[in-house]
Amino acid sequence: VQQPLDELIASLTVDVPDHPEPGVLFRDLTPVFGDGPAFARVVEGLAAPAESDPRAAAMAGTDDATPAFDVVVGVEARGFLLAAAVALAAGVGVVPVRKAGKLPRERISADYVLEYGTATLELHADSIRPGQRVLVVDDVLATGGTLAAAVELVERVGGVVTAVSVVVELAALGGRERIAPHAVHALWTT
Ligand code: PRP
Repeated sequence: VQQPLDELIASLTVDVPDHPEPGVLFRDLTPVFGDGPAFARVVEGLAAPAESDPRAAAMAGTDDATPAFDVVVGVEARGFLLAAAVALAAGVGVVPVRKAGKLPRERISADYVLEYGTATLELHADSIRPGQRVLVVDDVLATGGTLAAAVELVERVGGVVTAVSVVVELAALGGRERIAPHAVHALWTT
């Protein structure tokens, strides 16, 4: 019998107290990504929100388990590791949402609030065609500011966000509410 995926992720994640600043418990997922079988299951799980989350299935307009997306968006930087693998497995392309100043061509920007101050995410204006169905992927849902900004960018260029998938949701921070009405598919909620 296979270990449940949430338990597998939890067992490989390393908690780092006081990183990047005192009082913050950092959930280091790099050992999950570094484990071949675990990484494969994570990538498979991120691509299948409709299968395990009825709300995601409803959002995607599907009542079967078919992943309903034409492209995967990954958020810098750790989201890139995941989004590229999910896209390759699904046979679709991958599009980066980057921190300010990295994308070279015409782009749109969205500001989001950090614990102290704000930051900016950017998307190439022509990277998603209007009506394309988009799976947005990141490693961690904390306050939800990052993913809310990514979703906003995708929608401003006409993309249709059919699912938002993360490896870990830190439930106490309430990020899920910031992404609503989009459902968040989390492989592990803690
Ligand atoms: C982390 C994480 C998510 C985001 C979650 O990224 O990878 O993208 O924070 O936080 P939130 O839900 O409160 O917005 P970080 O900004 O540390 O960037 P990095 O991946 O480039 O290190």
